Amino acid sequence: MNYTPLADRYSKMAYNRCGNSGVLLPAISLGLWHNFGSVDDFETARSIIRRAFDKGITHFDLANNYGPAPGTAEENFGAILKKDFTGNLRDELIISTKAGYYMWPGPYGEWGSRKYLLSSLDQSLKRMQLEYVDIFYSHRPDPNTPLEETMMALNTAVKSGKALYAGISNYKAPEAKRAFAILKQLGTPCLIHQPKYSMFERWVEDGLLDVLEENGVGCIPFSPLAQGLLTDKYLKGIPEGSRAAKPHGFLKTTDITEERLQQIKQLNELAKKRNQSLAQMALVWLMKDKRITTVLIGASSVQQLDNNIDCLNNVVLSDDELKKIESVLKKKP
Ligand SMILES: NC(=O)c1ccc[n+]([C@@H]2O[C@H](COP(=O)([O-])OP(=O)(O)OC[C@H]3O[C@@H](n4cnc5c(N)ncnc54)[C@H](OP(=O)(O)O)[C@@H]3O)[C@@H](O)[C@H]2O)c1
Repeated sequence: MNYTPLADRYSKMAYNRCGNSGVLLPAISLGLWHNFGSVDDFETARSIIRRAFDKGITHFDLANNYGPAPGTAEENFGAILKKDFTGNLRDELIISTKAGYYMWPGPYGEWGSRKYLLSSLDQSLKRMQLEYVDIFYSHRPDPNTPLEETMMALNTAVKSGKALYAGISNYKAPEAKRAFAILKQLGTPCLIHQPKYSMFERWVEDGLLDVLEENGVGCIPFSPLAQGLLTDKYLKGIPEGSRAAKPHGFLKTTDITEERLQQIKQLNELAKKRNQSLAQMALVWLMKDKRITTVLIGASSVQQLDNNIDCLNNVVLSDDELKKIESVLKKKP
């Protein structure tokens, strides 16, 4: 099971500049929120990571709490790196982690204090057996901690060399704007913002994308397939082993309403006319906006990953297709 990355791995993927920075990110990045924890099959996880890298995906996104159990996605990823990404391959990877959600008991195990963020980063590095991450995020804004404190912690992470860049996630436009100003003043400009964005979740269009562009910050939308809803997988019920069927999954069966299914069916028909899967059309729909640096997908199999990456063979949506998609999305489920 020795791994030698494919020699032509950079030949087909597109790379986009992240905001005004020097960093290029692949058009598609892979997240390890689900499918890489201790409840999942290690060899499947390993084969997904290997395939992603072979296809030019250089960016892998983690967080302290990914699993389940929390922390085990980082442990498994660290083990995969140790086994497969030897030599100088670390230098070909952009690895991110985050802190913000609940990780350990007591008053210092979640939110946005300096105490929590910096100890969590140390724990993440240990779990992944890494000396540094490329991007360290504040995972969510903390209404009870001064924004200055949270941003100073990100600045410390970067200045200490434990992270190369700082990012924020789940911050609304006004608080993102303030965070960017603080980070800039500290000499650690924000590299990237990670919001939830898909055909079914469009709050970022209401100001955030403009703020990112004005500040030269990149954008990496998470859950671009609405956790699997924007695929054909739920059209004939809830398949065994799917995220909605899993007890620990964050997609609930109650999210799959009859109205939602009608929308998905219509989108699926539009995708078929483009000779694409619905997943592929949902990804290129996000890529049409040049402010989107990379889309952050999840995958539970190599087949899903391949299918998603193949969206790059047909990224142009015509005005007519966009109008038709919009009219389906306008019908609120
Ligand atoms: N910053 C934050 O607060 C935050 C929150 C959530 C996620 N994230 C990041 O975003 C990443 C992606 O999130 P996500 O996993 O929700 O993304 P997603 O791409 O919307 O959903 C991934 C799921 O969709 C299904 N799927 C993917 N490709 C498919 C295909 N071609 N055909 C059929 N089904 C397909 C799979 O579900 P099955 O498992 O059912 O097969 C897969 O697990 C996470 O790993 C994490 O890195 C960040």
